[in-house]
Amino acid sequence: MKNIIVGLLGFGNVGTGFAAILEENRKIIENTLGCSVIVKKILVRDPGKYRDTVIPEELFTADADEILTDPEIHIIVELIGGIQPACDYIKKALENGKHVVTANKAVIALYGKELFELADKNRVSIRFEGSVGGGIPIISSLTKSLAANEIEEIVGIINGTTNYILTRMDESGLGFQEALAEAQSKGFAEADPTSDIEGEDAAYKLAILTHVAFGVQVNPKEIPYTGIGQISEKEIDFARQLGYKIKLLATVRRHDGCLDLHVHPALVPFEHPLAAVSYEYNALYIRGNAVGEVMLYGKGAGSLPTGSAVLGDVIEVVQIIKNKIGEKNTFADKYQFKPKAISSGSSAYYIRLQVKDRPGVLGKITTAFGRNGISLESVVQRGRGGLSVPLIFVTHEADREMLDAALKEVSAIESVEEVASILLVQNKS
Ligand code: NDP
Ligand code: HSE
Repeated sequence: MKNIIVGLLGFGNVGTGFAAILEENRKIIENTLGCSVIVKKILVRDPGKYRDTVIPEELFTADADEILTDPEIHIIVELIGGIQPACDYIKKALENGKHVVTANKAVIALYGKELFELADKNRVSIRFEGSVGGGIPIISSLTKSLAANEIEEIVGIINGTTNYILTRMDESGLGFQEALAEAQSKGFAEADPTSDIEGEDAAYKLAILTHVAFGVQVNPKEIPYTGIGQISEKEIDFARQLGYKIKLLATVRRHDGCLDLHVHPALVPFEHPLAAVSYEYNALYIRGNAVGEVMLYGKGAGSLPTGSAVLGDVIEVVQIIKNKIGEKNTFADKYQFKPKAISSGSSAYYIRLQVKDRPGVLGKITTAFGRNGISLESVVQRGRGGLSVPLIFVTHEADREMLDAALKEVSAIESVEEVASILLVQNKS
């Protein structure tokens, strides 16, 4: 079979990883496919910057059209990131009859449905394994190995940068900014790391998982998300003393015909498998109605792990081209699931208050919780006899609106100085 020609958009962390694996494992790939995969051109903003790389200088261009309209190119691999111009480049590639592979979670979360339909219309494929969980084969697991299931729940750690930061703060007592700088230097963070830190990147990924696993397209902006910006070394220490690790969890769950989904820092009990997921590693716990529980684990960010997922997609697309398999890229029809409502659902909560250490304060607070229907599992006071002490409550499962009503009342108690922290608590299994 004739060789497959690729146009690569972007040559940063993931683009270089993709090219390095293509070179290193060329023989394995050729033996698998019976042909070679050849990168013809690479789009970057500033070709001069790439003069000293191992790639011949003439491969680099700053003109996207040189790649997107080249009739010789079969597959466009989009690794420039951001929403625009990446989204327009993908559209143009599909309209020009080119297959597309991307790791761009923002574009797939916001415009996935439109792009999948465009791919179907133009009888080409679009693949996006690298967009969620780096090197973990989560999309192909959902679309292939677990395709016989009705998925009931997915809970995961799906942002490598924040997991790396939380791990470094926990294990080495590193400050937030230093830990972030390390994650950036290792190539895990987005160009603008606020997307990682504030939970937006995880919300994009959760929107993609929801689309693939449930056939429901949610606007990622409507997913309730909170990041780790407020998590201090002190909070990590309190959680540890209570038997928990703090992790940024993304959850989507089918519940009474509704879909509950959110991204939130959560206390994960030491004995839960997600508590052991450290550094840039990600993990996804999936529950299907036939398979039961499945857990996928691996590097969720980084040049080679993500390059591996992207190249895996390219190999699959080459097989589709070679075998002339017609396929559907859209998801919605398969599931026919129309949730009655989309909400953030209920959870157990960890609440840390800062209070004046006076007799009777605890009674007033627990009464306010009780009056608003919030049942408490435990109360811990750290320190004694000072003017101001932290008071930590772990609730039983509660609705967020009821919790907010209770906390409004609690905040009005004279001795309560501050509701210092509200985190979710993941159950043990
Ligand atoms: P980088 O910032 O490291 O690289 C981006 C590359 O794209 C650079 O070569 C840059 O060229 C080029 N580029 C950016 N904007 C343009 C533009 N407008 N026109 C032409 N070229 C452009 O990004 P990453 O490799 O880290 O990420 C790429 C994608 O992969 C993103 O969507 C990201 O979310 C996703 N991803 C990243 C992971 C990671 O671990 N880093 C993991 C999973 C997914 P120049 O240098 O000239 O500006
Ligand atoms: N910035 C992302 C992360 C890259 O840290 O998880 C992988 O999608």
